[in-house]
Amino acid sequence: MDCFVGIDIGTSGTKTLLIQADGRILASATADYPLSTPRPGWSEQDPEHWWRATTRTVRSVLRQAAAGPDGVKPDRIRGIGLSGQMHGSVFLDESGQVIRPALLWNDQRTAEECAEIERRAGGRRRLIRMVANPALTGFTAPKILWLRNHEPRHFDRTRQILLPKDYIRFRLTGEFATEVSDASGTLLLDVARRRWSKPLLSRLELDPDLLPPVFESEDVTGELSRTAARALGLPPGIPVVGGAGDQAAGAIGNGIVRRGIVSATMGTSGVIFAHSDDVQVDPQGRLHTFCHAVRGRWHIMGCVLSAGGSLQWFRNQLCQEEVRAARRRKIDPYELIVASAEQVPAGSEGLFFLPYLTGERTPHADPNARGCWIGLSLRHGKGHLARSVMEGATYAMRDTLEIIREMEVPVKEIRVSGGGARSAVWRQMQADVYGQSVVTINAEEGPAYGAALLAVSGAGVCRSVTDACRTAISTVSRTRPVTASRRTYDRLYPVYRQLYQSLRSDFTDIQKLL
Ligand code: XUL
Repeated sequence: MDCFVGIDIGTSGTKTLLIQADGRILASATADYPLSTPRPGWSEQDPEHWWRATTRTVRSVLRQAAAGPDGVKPDRIRGIGLSGQMHGSVFLDESGQVIRPALLWNDQRTAEECAEIERRAGGRRRLIRMVANPALTGFTAPKILWLRNHEPRHFDRTRQILLPKDYIRFRLTGEFATEVSDASGTLLLDVARRRWSKPLLSRLELDPDLLPPVFESEDVTGELSRTAARALGLPPGIPVVGGAGDQAAGAIGNGIVRRGIVSATMGTSGVIFAHSDDVQVDPQGRLHTFCHAVRGRWHIMGCVLSAGGSLQWFRNQLCQEEVRAARRRKIDPYELIVASAEQVPAGSEGLFFLPYLTGERTPHADPNARGCWIGLSLRHGKGHLARSVMEGATYAMRDTLEIIREMEVPVKEIRVSGGGARSAVWRQMQADVYGQSVVTINAEEGPAYGAALLAVSGAGVCRSVTDACRTAISTVSRTRPVTASRRTYDRLYPVYRQLYQSLRSDFTDIQKLL
């Protein structure tokens, strides 16, 4: 039996899966690590934590698989796939040593560097023409410029810049390499041509040798070295494929590998992800256009920063009573919160919630935006508050869907996953707000699963990752919109949209006062 490993270097921890070639999961392990915030808005991590979590979780899945009914031995592992948090930057010196902690995707220190990039590129529109996306604070290129501007001694020692999962690849294989999906989020890739953008690198005065070669996600980028093999408990020589950034890998894990199939993943953040056969760019730069992990294909994606995160905030701040009751009854507090939301009619009787608790990325790209309830009256109780939070997060996801539809990218099937898909009430709400059926699938393991499927196809077990998905992934449930609720949401959604426009300058004024 041939087996494959998928490793996802997440923000709060690393998850490793061991699967069979047909996609069946044999073992899974996670290991957490801290995130450091040396200053407000900064977000950093020590890459050594990722490496330790990698060795620990790989050893754990090997132990579980050996003890399992199939008694899988390490010599059955035919490939390793990597996935990870996107946009981070690991700076390495001449000898491959990490120079300073990595700056992460949610780090907000680079507003000035984003402006510098637009200026050097000859304006926002030109930048979008070169790399398909505008400069956002989380992306990698502004982080590199920040290092040059603020820590020139570190920048002068830097010889290689890697994304988080590519640093783990370096530790596994000794090779510097990346792949198209994660490289797209650096803002330095010519996304249309799937190679580094020489014109932009030259305008930014960055040496192309600082960046690793770019592969397709299924390509083999190197083999497990002897040292790494010893650390992991595996034989040396196992091929390591390109893998993908966590969003593209998660999409592979959801089977988003054909035109018309779109995913709506409602975790802390909420992501709408659409496969595209060609490069489609939103001229206003509201969505990300990145290379997909499917060879020669692309994707369009929008990211709501606090989707499930808004309900989590509501639970933590306003639902202590429900948390205590749930503890007594040994159930999840969300069950009680969602049950109270279910008692309230669609539209929350005129109550709206804007879910911008951590600013917003899509569609507003506005770090100053903030959360609020609008329309409160004496009639409204806690159930209304809960329902309006869920509705606000779902309207925010619809914002991305609307832009995708505006770009004439077909949306034939919406696959829901994450916390928002586990609740039947929220699934129904998504179908009603999106105005389309939503489906769930058999696979729930996210990016690590996609990374393992990329290893399956990289090993040549199937013709492509699309085939690997066809074998492994199937539909489990379908939720159709309820006509009356759908009509209600169609009437209310334009009001939701207008509220941000009405409040935008107030959000900025509030920030200035702080
Ligand atoms: C994608 C993004 C996040 C990070 C961390 O653009 O910023 O999904 O990859 O998970």
